[in-house]
Amino acid sequence: MLEVSNARKVFYRGKPDEKVALNDLSLRLATGEFGIIIGSNGAGKSTMLNAISGALPLDSGSVVVGNEDVTALPVHERAAHITRVFQDPMKGTAASMSIAENMLLAELRGQKRTLRPGLTAARRDLYRERLSVLGLGLEDRLDARVDLLSGGQRQSLSLVMAVSTSPQLLLLDEHTAALDPRTADIVMAATVRAVEKFRLTVLMVTHNMQHAIDFGHRVFMLDAGRVKLEIGPEEKRGLTVPDLISHFSTKADRMLLAS
Ligand SMILES: Nc1ncnc2c1ncn2[C@@H]1O[C@H](COP(=O)(O)OP(=O)(O)O)[C@@H](O)[C@H]1O
Ligand SMILES: [Mg+2]
Repeated sequence: MLEVSNARKVFYRGKPDEKVALNDLSLRLATGEFGIIIGSNGAGKSTMLNAISGALPLDSGSVVVGNEDVTALPVHERAAHITRVFQDPMKGTAASMSIAENMLLAELRGQKRTLRPGLTAARRDLYRERLSVLGLGLEDRLDARVDLLSGGQRQSLSLVMAVSTSPQLLLLDEHTAALDPRTADIVMAATVRAVEKFRLTVLMVTHNMQHAIDFGHRVFMLDAGRVKLEIGPEEKRGLTVPDLISHFSTKADRMLLAS
């Protein structure tokens, strides 16, 4: 469960270029729900994810994840419960390490480490099983260095790593935006398999209106730091890309998204 209540974030407060990035924004996702966030540039999408992950403290308002109020917790104390996949495929994984070593790092995230556990046969079996969910054959390449993987494979590995602590919330921050359309679709298909298999609660930011239509249960359109429109599961079923685009407030956005 995720509940963001009256989240407020102002940059450059009191200065001429003061910017209200989150304007008392509220939204709620039930456990197991897959929410999609859309909105034009500057709407507050990244600021909201940063506030949920703890990367950015709120000026006021609260964030509750799985019945725990995490508003005051620093990033590292949220890390095992709230995980995130970023847009840049290079960001979520360590290039010079193998797939298995990366998975081990992910498994230890948010834990206090005294003794570092090894890559036992049991662990390798577990990693193989988790990777096989993606349907990309990565389970047969446990010892391959991550810099040998394609962007799409790397992003899919980031995804499996992000879910390896069984997080209460998975944040996907335009995680397919840097990929070519075909690879983006492959990563989205892998995402859906992982979400269903691990029964995750997910919040995904996307610029891809077709993905917003095809995936998830609920759509939130952000505008000027608030939720301008929420589309629930019933209404979402009949939704088309033109419907969605028509809700964007500027003509420039509508043309850009339709192209
Ligand atoms: N670190 C920051 N310092 C100053 N202004 C920021 C910062 N981060 C975001 N903003 C501003 O806050 C607004 C919302 O930004 P952002 O959350 O990045 O939007 P989106 O991800 O929807 O494109 C924008 O006007 C942006 O310029
Ligand atoms: Mg952004």
